[in-house]
Amino acid sequence: MSPVIHNTLAQREGRNMVYVPFQVENGCVETAIKGAYALNILGLNVTVPYKGEAADCLTEKDEMAGKIGAVNTLVRTDQGYKGYNTDMLGLFRAMQSENIRLQGEEILVLGAGGAARAVAYMCVLKGCAKVYLFNRTLRKAETVAQEVNKAFAAACVTPMSLADYPLLGNGRKYLAIQATSVGLYPNTEDAVIMDTAFYRMIHTGYDLIYNPQNTKFMSLVREAGGKAYHGLKMLLYQGIIAYELWNNVKVSEAEALHVYEKMKKAMGIAHE
Ligand code: ATR
Repeated sequence: MSPVIHNTLAQREGRNMVYVPFQVENGCVETAIKGAYALNILGLNVTVPYKGEAADCLTEKDEMAGKIGAVNTLVRTDQGYKGYNTDMLGLFRAMQSENIRLQGEEILVLGAGGAARAVAYMCVLKGCAKVYLFNRTLRKAETVAQEVNKAFAAACVTPMSLADYPLLGNGRKYLAIQATSVGLYPNTEDAVIMDTAFYRMIHTGYDLIYNPQNTKFMSLVREAGGKAYHGLKMLLYQGIIAYELWNNVKVSEAEALHVYEKMKKAMGIAHE
């Protein structure tokens, strides 16, 4: 989708710029970044599995990328590339565009992989009151919680086993962010937690998955009376923010939504 996002924006703005994908082999990340800089390339995106390795090749990182230790966007400066994590900046902007608040909230995050870890950092950085990190393997949730709590010198993140959600069932409603790969196409009938009692604790569910457009997690949230969103706007805004950083411009909401329509068309999604 990234070529669709950037080439659409560049064309509409009449900007002499093209976005192309490159495949980089294992062990060549640093060489690729140095080579791109020598070639006078304006910026780069980095994707899985190189987001951590790329972060280690840079001298400068913005606050969020530095804390998370993963970058997806490199922006050319006079000294080299500066790293950003526009995945998380994009998730934040996508949530803002839906009026989903993080500040002061108690948030349930599902997962403890790379995506969930970044989400936990982002939530704490944006001032949430608490993150409960639910994972099938408790040990991994404990490791992530320790890392985030250490980075912020506060006990913001509590690791939880998947079965432990009744401990939080005090009538309170939570924002939940689904950050595992469970439910991804073609396993569209899967969700990390199936119990309806869990979903009755959720006022808003945000799934990072965008394929399918309606995940099992989203259906379960809606069936229990909550609002549910998929991750396509996060994908949109991570690109919009990268484009803004590379070109030092602000993309209007109307332009962003135009790109969003193009993305949906390219993915064969007719309407929401
Ligand atoms: P990413 O970097 O994209 O987040 P990952 O590191 O492979 O991907 O993490 C995948 C997440 O999905 C993990 O939290 C994983 O749980 P475990 O840590 O217990 O492996 C979770 N996950 C994957 N398959 C799962 C399943 N069938 N049931 C529950 N959780 C699952």
